[in-house]
Amino acid sequence: MYTSKIIGLGHFVPDNIVTNDDLSKLMDTNDEWIQERTGIKERRWIKEGSGETSSSMGAKAAKIAIERSGLTKDDIDFIVFATLSPDMYFPGCGVQVQDLLDMPTIGALDVRNQCSGFIYALSVADQFIKTGMYKNILVIGSEYHSGGLDISTRGRGVSVIFGDGAGAAILSRSEDATKGILSTHLHSEGKHARELVVEGPSIARWVPEYKNNPDDLSYYPYMNGTFVFKNAVVRFSEVIMEGLQANNLGVEDLDMFIPHQANLRISQFVQRKFKLRDDQVFNNIQKYGNTTAASIIIALTEAWEQKKIKDGDLVVLAAFGSGFTWGSVIIRW
Ligand code: ACO
Repeated sequence: MYTSKIIGLGHFVPDNIVTNDDLSKLMDTNDEWIQERTGIKERRWIKEGSGETSSSMGAKAAKIAIERSGLTKDDIDFIVFATLSPDMYFPGCGVQVQDLLDMPTIGALDVRNQCSGFIYALSVADQFIKTGMYKNILVIGSEYHSGGLDISTRGRGVSVIFGDGAGAAILSRSEDATKGILSTHLHSEGKHARELVVEGPSIARWVPEYKNNPDDLSYYPYMNGTFVFKNAVVRFSEVIMEGLQANNLGVEDLDMFIPHQANLRISQFVQRKFKLRDDQVFNNIQKYGNTTAASIIIALTEAWEQKKIKDGDLVVLAAFGSGFTWGSVIIRW
């Protein structure tokens, strides 16, 4: 059986920086509230009219990852694209990246698992490589949140949290079983689907309904913040332990923990629980906000660029989010 190894990483975020003070001009909020509750100082939001989308940002991140991997676009066998903010209702973003990068007619799959999207996407890619079906897979997480937020005092509990951006990884076949992705662990609990949700547009909630009633909030994200927070800290902890135990490892073996950047308070809670030092946890939510499916791959890319991950390190990725879904990936770098 083969192992899959990450051989290239890249990320792309829009230039437009939106600070907490900028938001306070658009809604009744302030820097102190946002930083105290979430740790976020600023985020990137696509400038209206720039033409940037989840697909275009994903393609830009992918280009960097492919270049750094030493492969060419023609060496890629498959695309897995995770997003909750696709350019179109259908088709998905994967096929658009295939076109934007002028790739051969390889398969392209979209993953719709929100904050856990990149973990699910990595897991899918890992299985394709382990079975020998594909050799090199492009895995993307990308989100264009800002176009779909309620940027007003009414939506402030949610809109201050989310940012736009993309990241990409090249997962490649390896015959060294001691390195690469050791295991992935996925979970869901659909009974909580409506605790963090955008209900429309969907077949059940079609656009004309919105047009007749612009105050229909089902077209904006709804989040039961306290409930999400409480579940997140429990599930993060469980799924990290599940991953470590599956490999006969313990918290003491962990070199780098890269959590989904949901909220700095959630990451800090998990850090305290496992008694991890600051240099064992990588956070960048302060700069980018919560970029959902893109957050782990942007953070992983930055941690690698900053040389915080060394050869042989045990790297743990974990996420929790809408669905609810959660998961972890255990990697020997
Ligand atoms: N600025 C100022 N005041 C605000 C804002 C804002 N942006 N948003 C809400 N408030 C007000 C509320 O209206 C409320 O006012 P009231 O007491 O007069 O009614 C008050 O602040 C407290 O609101 P809460 O929603 O209770 O605030 P809370 O302390 O729970 O913090 C938060 C909200 C940060 C969302 C918190 O619940 C949380 O961290 N939840 C975890 C969920 C999370 O992080 N999700 C990230 C996305 S999901 C994911 O990635 C898993």
